[in-house]
Amino acid sequence: MKTEMQLLKRTQYCGQVHLAAVGTRVTLTGWVQRRRDLGGLIFIDIRDRTGIAQAVFNPETHPEAHAEGHTLKPEFCIAIMGELVMRPPEMRNPSMLTGEVEVLVDTVVVLNESQTPPFVVEDGVEVSDTLRLKYRYLDLRRPGLQRNIILRHHAATSVRKFLDDHGFIDVETPVLTKSTPEGARDYLVPSRVYPGKCFALPQSPQLFKQLLMVSGFDRYYQIVKCFRDEDLRADRQPEFTQIDIEMSFITMDDILEVTEEMIATLFRETIEVDLARPFPRLSHAEAMAEYGTDRPDLRFAMKLSDVTDILAASDFRVFSSAAAEGGVIKALVVKAPHSLSRKDLDSLQDIIADFGAKGVLWARLDDDGWKSTLTKFITPEQFGMLKIRLEIAPGDVVLFIADRADVANPSLSALRLHLAQRLDLIPSTAFSALWVTSFPLLEFSEEAGRLVSVHHPFTAPLTGDLPLLGSDPDRVKSQAYDMVINGYEVGGGSIRIHTREVQQEVFRAIGLSEDEARTKFGFLLDALQYGAPPHGGIAFGFDRLVMLLTGTTSIRDVIAFPKTQKAYCTMTDAPSDMDPTQLAELGLSMVKRKP
Ligand code: AMO
Repeated sequence: MKTEMQLLKRTQYCGQVHLAAVGTRVTLTGWVQRRRDLGGLIFIDIRDRTGIAQAVFNPETHPEAHAEGHTLKPEFCIAIMGELVMRPPEMRNPSMLTGEVEVLVDTVVVLNESQTPPFVVEDGVEVSDTLRLKYRYLDLRRPGLQRNIILRHHAATSVRKFLDDHGFIDVETPVLTKSTPEGARDYLVPSRVYPGKCFALPQSPQLFKQLLMVSGFDRYYQIVKCFRDEDLRADRQPEFTQIDIEMSFITMDDILEVTEEMIATLFRETIEVDLARPFPRLSHAEAMAEYGTDRPDLRFAMKLSDVTDILAASDFRVFSSAAAEGGVIKALVVKAPHSLSRKDLDSLQDIIADFGAKGVLWARLDDDGWKSTLTKFITPEQFGMLKIRLEIAPGDVVLFIADRADVANPSLSALRLHLAQRLDLIPSTAFSALWVTSFPLLEFSEEAGRLVSVHHPFTAPLTGDLPLLGSDPDRVKSQAYDMVINGYEVGGGSIRIHTREVQQEVFRAIGLSEDEARTKFGFLLDALQYGAPPHGGIAFGFDRLVMLLTGTTSIRDVIAFPKTQKAYCTMTDAPSDMDPTQLAELGLSMVKRKP
């Protein structure tokens, strides 16, 4: 006897019923999107991952189409059979791919009923994130999310094909491993066999891909899950996916060229966008000076300018003391025409509140001169110099922040982005990619109270800066680089240290004792002694890339089963309590945290 699904073998997807098939008998399967009763005729929109088809039946002429004993309701899983016919002219909808035809149904089979779903399965419906994530399998039925997930698949295919064509080998690396420092906390997995000991989930496959270079695999790649316990944002998830790449016997240029081509191919093949190439390259110092951030959005101009030399001698204490204390006075120009009122300008203070800046000041050049609270402090000569340096025309507004560079830069960067959004200066469908290079090797971390790696501790110092490591470590530049698209850091990498001596020196510079270095990274230090080749690589945030390709603003929209902002899965309720026997097997006991 044939099974139900053998009898109901689908002839095509819902989104594929079209004029050419008119007159044929079709079987469609999917979910009821809508059911309408119109004067004796019943219409059903049936949906699958390719689109929606309209089905119509007349309960009088085809009583069997009544779906025996069922009233078709939204999200019922059904199969329909019937003839594909042209719709009557007044019912044709040329804006829909399948809008000119309909299935004249003679049989409906309910494969499974559905409870009333907690929200309407349609794009653009207002639903709370919590509910969407709790019923993610229903949320994923929405066409928008289906498009994103399918585009993600095409993106992975494009990348794999490109890397395969360019001689890269896909190698899997362990998930149960030892801590790989990438600046976040580890997710730990307690071991049953070794009570009291834990594996760490990889923050990245960094050390394994380096060891693969030592083994001679030369060009490696992996599309791989990474795990980081860190504060979440719209572009960060606790588990996310990297396109991880490593190459031997190469220069930085080799890595940038091949991966730039990979990204350009990805954009062309998935969304038919040709990125402008070669991608511009900015040094870290240039990016900070001109945009106040190491991930500038270059879809719009609005560069920052350093005007410390012009205003240091002003009578205004905020300016003079910032300059005297080694800080900077930086300016950002908003070109006319713009719609910024005095009130808007005064409220910019709120935008920078989180960055610790003392304040933002403004001056506007009107036809009859400068308008600003600063007019009594800035001399006409100084205003004249500002006008030339900043190329000010009537109507333009200049914003000033005087502070430590590490406060003024991020504050102005936030203002630049806020104003560009507010004044609609960002072409929303444009893409602008660039490389940022020459990062500092180390930076001081207030939290750790010592120097830490800007990228990770396996990044090679700029060869000429090596002698500074012992004396002036914070002045050492690294051979690290990031790829930035539309203000998002989409990838980062570096040329690696490939000798034991330099690796030990860098460990020392970040305060790791010989013993600690041995305990944590002994296997790497050993491997570097066995003819480790010069090598380097990069990892791209695959979720971030897909987010850009789909035009969404959160990576949750391109991950099938993401976690909440609080790193929780509301659908499965994970993380969850452990069974007492599991705890006992692991040699663990839980201590209640004091409230
Ligand atoms: P890095 O830490 O810069 O480098 O990570 C590489 C890229 O991964 C993405 N990314 C994330 N995406 C989503 N959620 C997160 N929590 C998250 N964290 C990072 C970013 C980032 O640019 N091992 C090195 C690479 C190398 O040196 O080759 C590394 O992991 O897009």
